[in-house]
Amino acid sequence: MNAIEIKNLGKNYGEKQALSNLNMTVPMGAIYGFIGENGSGKSTTEKLICGLIRPNSGEIKLFGKDYNDQEIRSQIGVLIESPGCFPNISVWDNMKIQAANLGIKNENEEVRRVLKIVRMEGSASNKFKNCSLGMKQRIGIAFALLGHPKLLILDEPINGLDADGMRIMREVLIDITKNLNSTVLISSHILSELEKIATHYGIIRNGKMIKEMTAEELEKECPTYIAIKTKNNIETKQSLEKRYKKVIEENEELRIYDSCLAKDVVSYLYSQNILPIEVQTAKINLEEYYTHLMDKGGSYNE
Ligand SMILES: Nc1ncnc2c1ncn2[C@@H]1O[C@H](COP(=O)(O)OP(=O)(O)O)[C@@H](O)[C@H]1O
Ligand SMILES: [Mg+2]
Repeated sequence: MNAIEIKNLGKNYGEKQALSNLNMTVPMGAIYGFIGENGSGKSTTEKLICGLIRPNSGEIKLFGKDYNDQEIRSQIGVLIESPGCFPNISVWDNMKIQAANLGIKNENEEVRRVLKIVRMEGSASNKFKNCSLGMKQRIGIAFALLGHPKLLILDEPINGLDADGMRIMREVLIDITKNLNSTVLISSHILSELEKIATHYGIIRNGKMIKEMTAEELEKECPTYIAIKTKNNIETKQSLEKRYKKVIEENEELRIYDSCLAKDVVSYLYSQNILPIEVQTAKINLEEYYTHLMDKGGSYNE
């Protein structure tokens, strides 16, 4: 069963069409990386899933049921924009207020449980206003985790985090899907981070889903290449093109996309009296894949 299944979703804000015929499938247990430029419709999609706004057309199913189903609705945890916290009171008290608002029983136990998951158990007495951005984002996730939701919707939760904040967030999200059996939908434009945790991807553009794939499919679609740094790219490129079919200048280096070995490229360059500065085997990452898809509209294999 899928955690989220969306068919032909449409949303207009007045004259503005934010989503049109959007389809999305998020399998249970996935960490689904939702990617798209600013204004492409990520937050709108997330707000629709959570029932914060109403669609103009289309269908949203959560765990096989209509998303208006009350029982299903109570099993969704949400972090869209920052958590509504009181700055001058402690993290613990903020959590308790939220738990009470949600009508959660055994508040102390539940607050302790979620603070532990987000690695905040040692900082519960801090005033909210004194928490770092990373801590605040994790408190937002703790809010979303109250009441054991099966699905978490997180809108750009890793924006602005430093390396350490990113690492902790990564551990927390993996923990949530592995140990709590929850499903996570996470939007972000920090693709290098997303690539470390996502099991599935959805790429949205102008309110339409243009590609959905698993991490394995992405892996297959991202070719390896030989990267060559030289003093003279023009001359080296001409020379390489005599031997290799697909030689492209990218990021101030030359790349050979033919299937070949770095050592053979080095031998060939020597035979042509060209001394490269650096030759190495590399692989296209999510960021490059995404840029290529946006610029050229196709994958590397097409
Ligand atoms: N409340 C709103 N009123 C009018 N237009 C909106 C509103 N919210 C979003 N939009 C527009 O809808 C489009 C999608 O926005 P959004 O879903 O916020 O994109 P993203 O989260 O991917 O940046 C954008 O063009 C945005 O300007
Ligand atoms: Mg947004």
